[in-house]
This record gives sequence, structure tokens and C-alpha cells, in this order.
Amino acid sequence: MLFPHWIAIAGPQALQRLLSVSEAFCGEHRHGTQYRTALITGATSGIGAAFGEALPPETMLLLTGRRSERLAASAARLTAQGRTIHTLAADLSSASGRIAVVEWARGFAVDLLICNAGLGTSGRFVETFSAAHKETIEVNIVAPLELLDGLLPSMVASARKLGRRCGVIIVSSTAAFGARPGMACYAASKAFLLRLGQALAAELRDQPVDLLVLCPTYTYTEFFARAGLPIPRDAMTPDAVAREGLAALGRRTVHLCGRGYQPLDQFFAFNPSLAVWRWPRRLRMSNRLAAPQGDFPRKTDHRKRRLAPPRL
Ligand SMILES: NC(=O)c1ccc[n+]([C@@H]2O[C@H](COP(=O)([O-])OP(=O)(O)OC[C@H]3O[C@@H](n4cnc5c(N)ncnc54)[C@H](OP(=O)(O)O)[C@@H]3O)[C@@H](O)[C@H]2O)c1
Repeated sequence: MLFPHWIAIAGPQALQRLLSVSEAFCGEHRHGTQYRTALITGATSGIGAAFGEALPPETMLLLTGRRSERLAASAARLTAQGRTIHTLAADLSSASGRIAVVEWARGFAVDLLICNAGLGTSGRFVETFSAAHKETIEVNIVAPLELLDGLLPSMVASARKLGRRCGVIIVSSTAAFGARPGMACYAASKAFLLRLGQALAAELRDQPVDLLVLCPTYTYTEFFARAGLPIPRDAMTPDAVAREGLAALGRRTVHLCGRGYQPLDQFFAFNPSLAVWRWPRRLRMSNRLAAPQGDFPRKTDHRKRRLAPPRL
């Protein structure tokens, strides 16, 4: 009896998503949250740079990437707009680079973490150098894992203490929703981020944190030149992707970029395994984040229905 369950869950939410398309473009956060300090990885170009531009001027920006001259140029431009910027050049494909970014970010009270840095390699798996696969895994998977591991507990604890909410955006891709011959490792890495983000959001649902897995479709950035691919026609601009991401944060857990995609968010992003394995409450969260304490803004639990176990 899985089919009626899908209709019951996906139907109303898809309709709701259709109705909220315009809302997603208005740029306001669901809780009116104004983040104080945002860490953006991969901020030297494309979507990461666009996040820096799209965040309000009051938000202090911590920008990182490998190209220090780009970081300096961004810092100069954004500082001229009256913003506070800090930069760190680091290579996320190396353990030392990842440690450096986590340690550096710990010196600030980060309340918005944007795990955006990423790369893809095109070509048949067996004909691609294994170093390229490894780099993809290190940057696309290991770096977000270590950043979340190193920063998220303190972000949540501090949000609880201050009676605020914090946010996390994990930049995945529409490539996460299927196997991609020719970009096997890249698509698999983005699928990892999608499922990681969904599970984390479910685990942290009672905490003052908004978690979004952002799945851009084709976007005009340097990604394609680096991957050795032509830019597809009708690609989105990085600015539009960043604005959509910020608008969706706090509203939903998975957001597919582009108007045409939005009714499909729930359909593609629905995780049957989470619905089926909804743990009994007493078994859930026996860890340090188990019992939410303090007076922080709670979110309307729009995911309750989606995660409810099927009626058998
Ligand atoms: N463009 C698309 O069509 C598209 C679609 C879906 C998802 N995405 C995702 O969007 C994210 C941003 O990509 P983009 O499209 O904006 O491409 P981009 O312009 O090439 O930006 C990639 C960013 O990641 C950084 N980066 C790459 N390797 C790094 C490393 N080893 N260490 C530290 N930083 C590194 C780059 O900075 P440095 O080179 O300065 O290090 C750059 O700032 C990626 O996760 C990508 O998978 C892109």
C-alpha cells in the first residue's frame, strides 16, 4: 500500500510548493533570521561568490577558497560596500587545509555555514585518474563532513544559548537524483550530500537550526570549464541560485533550483527510508543534542507529514 501513501504525502505538499513558488523568490527568511557571521567555502567564484553578494550587509563574511588573489579582490569589493570580511586561502582537498578552515572559523561565532566548494570531473570512470576521483571525494564529501563535524555542535549550542536560530546550506546538485555516466564520482558525491543533509535535518528537527540541501541545476560558473564540459544552454545565473537558496533556508530541507523544478522538490527528495525508519521517540537522540533546552524560536514543523510512517 505504498502508492496511496505517496499520493497522500507528495500531493498536498507539491501543491503547497506550487503555491509558494513566488514566496521562494522574495528573499525573506522564514523566521526573519538575520545571520551574524557566515562561512562560505568556494567563495572565489560562481555560486559561492554569489552567496557573499546575496547575504545582507550586516552579515560578517568568512570567505575561503584556494585563489588568494580572488579572495583579496572580493574582500576589497565587499569591504567598500561597508561589510566586514575575513578571508582564508586553503585547499580543501588536503587534511591540513580542512583543519585550517575549521580552526580559523572557530575563532568567529559562525551561525551560517555554507558548504559550497565542489568540483566535478568528466570522463569514463576507468579512464579518469584516480587522483581526480580522490580530489572530488575530498572536496565534495570529506570537507563538508569535517566542517559540519567541527562547527555544527557549537553553532547549535550557541543558538540555543542566545535564543536564536542558526543555518546550514549544503550545496548538492540535481545530479544527486540519479547515476551520471561520464560524471559517476561527482553525481555519487552529490547524492551523498543529499542523503546526509536529509538525515541531519531529521535528527536536528527539534533544534534551533535550519538545514537546507540546495540542488542547483546547470549554472553559469567556472564549474564546466574546470570539468572540461561546455556550458549547457538555459543555465541559471549563480546570483539566482544563491538567492533561491537563501530564500528556501528555513522553509524546506531540499530545494531544487529553477522554477520548473520546484513542484518536484518533495517528489524527488522524499526519503522513504526516513519515513519507514522513524524511530520511536524514546530511542531517538540519546546524544548530547537529545533534549532541546532553552527558549529559541521553534519552526513550524512542515516536515511532520512527510516523515510520518505509512499507515499499513
Ligand atoms: N555550476 C553548476 O552547474 C552546478 C550545478 C549543481 C551544483 N553545483 C555545485 O555548486 C558548487 C559551486 O560550484 P560553482 O558552480 O560555483 O563552480 P566554480 O565557479 O568552479 O566554484 C567552485 C568553488 O569551489 C572552490 N574549490 C574547488 N576546489 C577546491 C579545493 N580543492 N579547495 C578549496 N576550494 C575549492 C573553488 O575555489 P578555488 O578554485 O579558488 O579553490 C570555487 O570557489 C559546487 O559544489 C558544485 O558542485 C554547480
